[in-house]
Amino acid sequence: MKFKLLSLSSCLAFALLFVNAAQSAESGQAKDVKDWNKAGGEKTEAMKLTPDRDRGIIVYEVCSACHLLEGWGGKDGTFPQIAGQHKNVLIKQLADIRAKNRDNPTMYPFALDEQILAASGFKHGEINPAQLVADVTAYSAQLPMNPDNGKGTWNELFPEFAQGKKLYEDNCVECHGENGEGNDDKFYPKIQGQHYAYMMRQFEWIRDGKRRNANPEMVEQIKNFSDKDMEMVINYTSRLKVPKKDLAPSVDYVNPDYD
Ligand code: HEC
Ligand code: HEC
Repeated sequence: MKFKLLSLSSCLAFALLFVNAAQSAESGQAKDVKDWNKAGGEKTEAMKLTPDRDRGIIVYEVCSACHLLEGWGGKDGTFPQIAGQHKNVLIKQLADIRAKNRDNPTMYPFALDEQILAASGFKHGEINPAQLVADVTAYSAQLPMNPDNGKGTWNELFPEFAQGKKLYEDNCVECHGENGEGNDDKFYPKIQGQHYAYMMRQFEWIRDGKRRNANPEMVEQIKNFSDKDMEMVINYTSRLKVPKKDLAPSVDYVNPDYD
């Protein structure tokens, strides 16, 4: 009798496991924080490899078609700034896009092995593609940032600025830091200096479950944000100051590696 009960409950547990697996395969979204950023695969491999700067420059040419040679993206938010982003964040995002854990139909074809191999003059099997991921992300991470990122409409004089600041302090500092500096070791993106329009889209997608690789704790933290709250907090975020040492000297700066 005891044995029967046991096998029944383990059957149930087994069935539940299947339902869970099917559900997360359907939405593709991690339910658990440990699944959001599981160790292993290309990400972990690329993090261990020593990047090569010259190869990074060559591979980055593919990326510059959209992210620009300076890595600055654009104020209209179509293309994010990737200059100055933390290396581990870039590795995770690129690996997620390549593995289709984050939908990016515009970029996906350019991020495939055949593109990054061809750009750097290798044939399949001649180099580990994770090495090229390490090279190109290390290169992007050290590019100086755009001194004139896209910002929301409310400057310090508006009450919406102050409300956004309060929302930021109560809900975001814990992960993205006081000044939006993020955390390389924890894969928390740097959001200071990022374009307002890009961040609005990502924030909305994260809140509404459309960005499948999002951190579940962030989703939980912002699920009750109204559209106005979102505008106010991202307005504030877009106005966080980037330390001078991380910025390019002027808006007219051109990347000297492509002279
Ligand atoms: C055809 C245009 C295009 C090309 C080429 C391209 N990207 Fe992108 N990339 C995008 C778009 C569009 C997004 C933002 C997608 C979104 O809104 O979710 C993006 C997002 C990213 C992100 C995520 C940024 C973040 O803040 O989370 C990274 C990292 C990235 N690209 C790296 C690269 C690298 C490295 C290359 C070259 C190997 C590259 N991209 C080539 C269009 C492109
Ligand atoms: C529990 C930690 C956590 C909290 C709290 C949190 N975030 Fe995030 N946020 C993350 C992580 C991790 C990512 C990247 C997720 C991924 O890997 O795709 C992210 C991504 C983002 C992005 C997209 C960045 C990019 O480059 O694409 C924006 C914008 C953002 N967060 C803004 C905010 C704001 C504003 C708040 C507060 C209202 C907030 N976050 C609260 C952890 C957090």
